[in-house]
Formats: sequence, C-alpha cells, structure tokens
Amino acid sequence: MSTQTHDRLLIIDFGSQVTQLIARRLRESNIYCEIHPFNKVTAESIRAFAPKAVILSGGPASVTEPDSPRAPQELFEMGLPIFGICYGQQVMMEQLGGKVESGHHAEFGRAFVEPAGNHENDPIFAGLFENGPEEVWMSHGDRVTEMAPGFEIIGTSPNAPYAIIADADRKFYGTQFHPEVHHTPNGARLLKNFTDMAGFTGDWTMGAYKEQAIAEIREQVGDAKVICGLSGGVDSSVAAVLIHEAIGDQLTCVFVDTGLMRKGEADEVISMFRDNYNIPLVHADESELFLGELEGQSDPETKRKIIGKLFIDVFEKHAKSVGGAKFLAQGTLYPDVIESVSFSGGPSVTIKSHHNVGGLPERMDMELVEPLRELFKDEVRALGRELGLPASFVGRHPFPGPGLAIRCPGEITRQKIDILREADAVYMDQIRKHGLYDDIWQAFVAILPVRTVGVMGDGRTYDFACALRAVNSVDGMTADYYPFTHEFLGETATRIINEVEGINRVTYDITSKPPGTIEWE
Ligand code: XMP
Repeated sequence: MSTQTHDRLLIIDFGSQVTQLIARRLRESNIYCEIHPFNKVTAESIRAFAPKAVILSGGPASVTEPDSPRAPQELFEMGLPIFGICYGQQVMMEQLGGKVESGHHAEFGRAFVEPAGNHENDPIFAGLFENGPEEVWMSHGDRVTEMAPGFEIIGTSPNAPYAIIADADRKFYGTQFHPEVHHTPNGARLLKNFTDMAGFTGDWTMGAYKEQAIAEIREQVGDAKVICGLSGGVDSSVAAVLIHEAIGDQLTCVFVDTGLMRKGEADEVISMFRDNYNIPLVHADESELFLGELEGQSDPETKRKIIGKLFIDVFEKHAKSVGGAKFLAQGTLYPDVIESVSFSGGPSVTIKSHHNVGGLPERMDMELVEPLRELFKDEVRALGRELGLPASFVGRHPFPGPGLAIRCPGEITRQKIDILREADAVYMDQIRKHGLYDDIWQAFVAILPVRTVGVMGDGRTYDFACALRAVNSVDGMTADYYPFTHEFLGETATRIINEVEGINRVTYDITSKPPGTIEWE
C-alpha cells in the first residue's frame, strides 16, 4: 500500500484521553503514524510495522500497580528512538531499571520547565527556551524518583524534577508533561525535534492521506453497496466525495430532511451535490417522522437517542431500496468519538451521545464506514480542498447531525423549531452582511424554554427568549466565545425581535468550552 513508501511512526496507546492529539501533532509535521493499543502490540507486530521511531502515550494506570500495562521489553533493544509521555515516560523508566513512585505528588495543570545542567543547546531543544522557561501542561499522579541507567535529567520544573529526561545515545526521551496538547504551546516543536533526530523528512501530506483512505475504503467495502447520510455539513460531504472517489457508483447518498435543518439548507445541499457531482442522491423528506417522535421530548440524551434511532430506521429503509447496501458511511470526526466513547474502550466519561457515534442503536444491520474518524475539523477541511470541494462549501460552519433539536433545550415543539429556524436565518444574514462569517468558527441561535414579558408598540408581549452563540475554535474540542461589538449585537437583537414572530428577548452566550459545550445540549 502507498503508506509503505513513507517513514512510519508507531504510537503505543496506554489509554490517555489525548493520545489522538499526538497523531495530530505528527500529521502537522507531515509524518505518517498509527496508534496501536498496548494490548495488541508485540515485538513481532512492531517489527512488522517497521517504524522509524516509537512514542509511548500517557494513560490512566499507575506503573506501580501489579498488572499495569507495559511495552514489549524487546522494544528497547531494537535501536529505535523512543519518546515516552507521562505514563509512557514512567513505563520506560520502570522497564529499564529506574524507579517510579505513586500517589502523593499528583500535579495537574500549568507548569514551567527549564533546561537542566548545560543541556540548553541539545538538539532536542532546538528553537525552545528562547524566551525563558517553557509553559507545559502536567496531568499525572505518579513520578519518576530514580532514573534508569544511561538517562539524565535535561529539563526540570519546580514540582517535577524529572520533567524531561534523556538517554541521548539511544535517542530515548521522556516527559512528565504532555507535549501534544495546546496547553503546552511549544510541545509540537519538542516532538518535531524528536522526529527530526529520528530522521523523519516530513513526506506525509493530505494528498497521501487521501490515497491511503481511498485504499482502505476499497479494502473494507469490496464490491458491496454503501449508503452515506448527507447532513449538509462539511464532514458528511467530504466523506461522501472521498468514498465516491474510492468506489464510484457503489455509493448512494441519502439526504435525510429531518425537519430540523436550517432555513434553505436542504435546497443548498441538494443543488450542490446535483450541480457539482454525479453522485446518486436520494432526498428523503422525513420531517413528519422526526418531528412527530420528538414532539414533547425534553431530555437531551433522549432526544439524541431518538434521532439516532430514526436515522438508522431511515437508512435501513433506503439501504433496501438501493438493492441492499451493506455499509453505512458517516462523517464521524475524532472529537465526536472522544466525547462519546473512550477511544481505548476503557471507562471514560460520556459527555454526550453524538448521534453518529454513541447514539446509534446496537441492532443496526449495516456496518459503518467512517473514513474521517481520526481527523479533526480543520484536517477535514484540508482533505475537502484536496478533493476539490468548493471553498464556500469547505468553509461552512459545522452543523450537528441532530440539527436544531439540540438548539431547543426543553420540550421540542414544531412551533419552537419554526421560530428558531427564522431567528437563525436572521442571525446568519447579519453575520454575512457584516463580513464575519469566515472569521467565526460556528454560530447559531438556541431558543430558550422560557417566555418573557416585553412591550412592543403599546402592547404587552409574552414570547420566547433566544440566545445567540458564536465561537472560535480550532478543532471543536475547546472554544472561546466570539467578541462581537455591542453595535452588532444590538442591531441583531433588534432585527430578530422585529422580524421573528414569537421572540421578544435576545441574549448573547459568553460561555467558553470548557466549561460549556458549543451546543446547548
Ligand atoms: P459540543 O457541543 O460537543 O460540539 O461542544 C462540538 C462540535 O460538534 C458538533 N456536534 C455534533 N456533530 N453530531 C454531529 O455531527 C452530533 O451529535 C453533534 N453534537 C455536537 C457541534 O455542532 C460542534 O461543532
């Protein structure tokens, strides 16, 4: 396969919530990598994969516990450069003869690291510490207390004397902090220094990713038929075009109009696919079904589960009508995966059941094809551009599968959804008119489950309140509210109240993520 011609890096996953971010940081440096769970990795599998370097991820276990995960001992004798992060650092120490202690030194959050001794000019620190100590993100309970033979401390922080350790001869490195997260601003540089030293040339591009994804889709699907749920969002569109490149007319797209779409959305998507692509497209108007089942429902998870189930019902119906599709394709992204299920199958907290991950009923007869499952939003956009999707489409704000349902906290009624759709249209019009659309990551209106008293003309009104939401984000995992001017907010509130019957009060949501999520449910 095409990947064989690229330098490969193996990430051994010990179950950290942020292991995928290591892969992402490496992709940013154009390095091909794969994440393999620790319990599937053996000395033979490493040799078969033939990596040029290995990264050991963090993880929730403690190396001091009996039966906690280990890397295959032979890994350390293969002559490969190795970088251990947090648990990965500790496991490397433990397996090479150092000591790790647990418990009383738990440290979470921001810390500052400085080079130790005279290591400031080591190649692993190229471009770092130029403006003093580096900010890093710590998240660990255990710490190394005695180093394995051959290692020395090359970086420290006040609470982490073993913050960065190295055996430069063997190119073994370990950090107690997480270089892969945004909160370690120069962490990507540290990882890049490591991969540079390991001899990676950065020959892996989105074009190469596309070729590999196409090869994998062909292998998974064979000559079976596939249907793909189009939601109008960037993700499902990119997935559809990618799969179409892989298997041509074995693919049929189904655009399910749930009655929970934004104003004009259905027409835009259908004309875009009909005008630009020759992909067979079924337009399923299922608004009565969805709105009927959701009417009166108010619990967020119940809403998501109902929608997930109905989507599958509809897809199964259409799978039959296209002559028996064996696969259902979806534009599931990595952030959907991590917030719905633990990547390693371990016990992590479910934040919400994203409809295309945790919300699917188990009885589903079709197998899933999810070619974007490892990507983040901005990477999907890059892939979309690579596939030749129009810039205006690739740049669209994300729109969630469950649509307006999760922007209507409290009881869902047709009336509230209609009001919401109108208010959203005015808001989007405002944003476009002010030239802000491309500057904002995502914007929408949520209709609130309260009525408030107002006065219009000489009369009293008693109508719904709504909240405007706009955020900036890189990947949807964290977000900041967008700093609109007061003039913009005032003008938009006036327009919504004047133009949308049923709303008499407008608020602006200034919650960041975390602690909020982007959507209201
Ligand atoms: P949250 O609300 O989790 O949203 O901060 C992060 C991003 O994901 C989108 N989102 C979804 N997308 N199915 C989707 O396809 C879903 O069930 C879903 N829930 C949230 C949300 O719009 C934001 O861009």
